[in-house]
Amino acid sequence: MAKTRTEFLCRECGGNHSKWMGKCPDCGAWDSLEKFTLEVESTKAGAAPIWGAPADAADSEELARSGIGRAVALGSVPEAQVSRIPTGISEFDRVLGGGVVPGSVMLFGGDPGIGKSTLLMQVAAAVAARGGSALYASSEESPQQVRLRAERLEAVVRAGGAGKLGERLLVMGEGNVARIVEQARKSRPTVVLVDSIQLVHRADVSAAPGSIAQLRRCCLDLVALAKSTGCGVIMVGHVTKDGALAGPKLLEHLVDVVLSFEGDRHSAIRVVRGVKNRFGSTQEIGLFEMRGDGLAEVETVRVPHAGGPSASGCAFVATMAGTRCLLGEIHALVATGFLGSTKRKASGLDASRLAMLIAVLEKHGGLRLADQDVFVQSLGGLRIAEPAADLAVALAIAGAFTNRVLPQGAVAIGEVGLTGELRTVPQIEQRVHESLRRGARVVFVPSSARIGGGATSADAPHAGQIVKIGTISAALELLSPAQRALTGARSGATVAVPSSSERVSSGVVKGRS
Ligand code: TYD
Ligand code: MG
Repeated sequence: MAKTRTEFLCRECGGNHSKWMGKCPDCGAWDSLEKFTLEVESTKAGAAPIWGAPADAADSEELARSGIGRAVALGSVPEAQVSRIPTGISEFDRVLGGGVVPGSVMLFGGDPGIGKSTLLMQVAAAVAARGGSALYASSEESPQQVRLRAERLEAVVRAGGAGKLGERLLVMGEGNVARIVEQARKSRPTVVLVDSIQLVHRADVSAAPGSIAQLRRCCLDLVALAKSTGCGVIMVGHVTKDGALAGPKLLEHLVDVVLSFEGDRHSAIRVVRGVKNRFGSTQEIGLFEMRGDGLAEVETVRVPHAGGPSASGCAFVATMAGTRCLLGEIHALVATGFLGSTKRKASGLDASRLAMLIAVLEKHGGLRLADQDVFVQSLGGLRIAEPAADLAVALAIAGAFTNRVLPQGAVAIGEVGLTGELRTVPQIEQRVHESLRRGARVVFVPSSARIGGGATSADAPHAGQIVKIGTISAALELLSPAQRALTGARSGATVAVPSSSERVSSGVVKGRS
């Protein structure tokens, strides 16, 4: 009989301990250690690495050169040919860095009901429609349910319906990881999709599905499957109520790519974001919209047209997501609260920056917000974590507090410093250009921003103005009483520019005289 060893694994951080403790010494979580029984293999030669070589080939020439099992100079390690399998869903491929890397394992996390199974089925259908093959193993739904969903999806309908994909899109309702692996070894698909890792199990592990012991063993089996057959494995992971991938720091360590699928449940916009990627950047995002016939790719988040009526407490910002520039809409609400116990809530924005901006508005903008509840929100499920949104957030709060509005079609870009000055942000030119392309009539930027003539040249269909502002107090002068701004804009009046700023139009600085 094989020898066994007992370990205790932390559900929160994956830490490994030899005895049970009430509190994990690594991460401090209480009651998070789970018993885990390991079969000890004969480890004379050490456990083979997952990507390692078969034992009988250990001394071959080729292996010696490749640096496996023997050290070689870094320069002489043969270059890896990372070929990728594009799924054909360009927003998804973008986040992956071009497509699924053969032999890689990906964890795809998200809230329940966000659309993980839908996207996975679309990926499977897209791979199959392009001549590859996919194995969709669902431990949550029966094959009938999977088919029902697939028939709703535009991606499947376009490929000629579920029947047309034939042998290239295989579906199995299975929770036993051994059978999934066996099926994958038999049918050799390009991608294996497991929905979800929390509900698959191994018969020889006594713990319940979703427990740390099951997760680890099942994940390792799937990693071994990917490395040995070269297929790409994508597994769905559930997210806990505080937003962490369930079980999972442990899973995150084991896999090559971690993607998170986010979005506001009340908005149709969904964002795929890279959390970890061994083969590409984690800066890129993919945008989808949930429709009646599945997830459709979105070019950029559709914010209400920047020329629409402006309301107090509302500001637009141009934010960078990887190499792309997106327009975001920020809303703020300021309401009287109780001094000493005011609420400050940020949704889709950085809460600590919100606190800082409120302090700057108090100190340098002359707004008394100490007894006000302040709520700010980035609309459409877009998460904006960069300081470039500071100016727009500050203007939205100030507008909501004073019941004043920004000029119609205004976009504000800039970082607010603690001294109240505005600072320029990276890629300011691209942001300005994109704002104008999206119909902005005026773009507010920090004085120190360097904008070349090209930013407002003829290739911007809606040539607008660029207004440079030095400080937060000057920026507050941009706000005008709600009524005046609406009538002013209707009569085609130009934007009121505070005396402390300068206006740049069509790339030419019109200095004040
Ligand atoms: P689903 O992919 O089952 O979510 P998850 O696997 O992340 O739990 O999708 C759930 C929601 O998506 C469901 O509430 C209905 C909606 N939906 C659509 O709006 N359109 C569609 O075509 C499909 C398939 C689902
Ligand atoms: Mg699902």
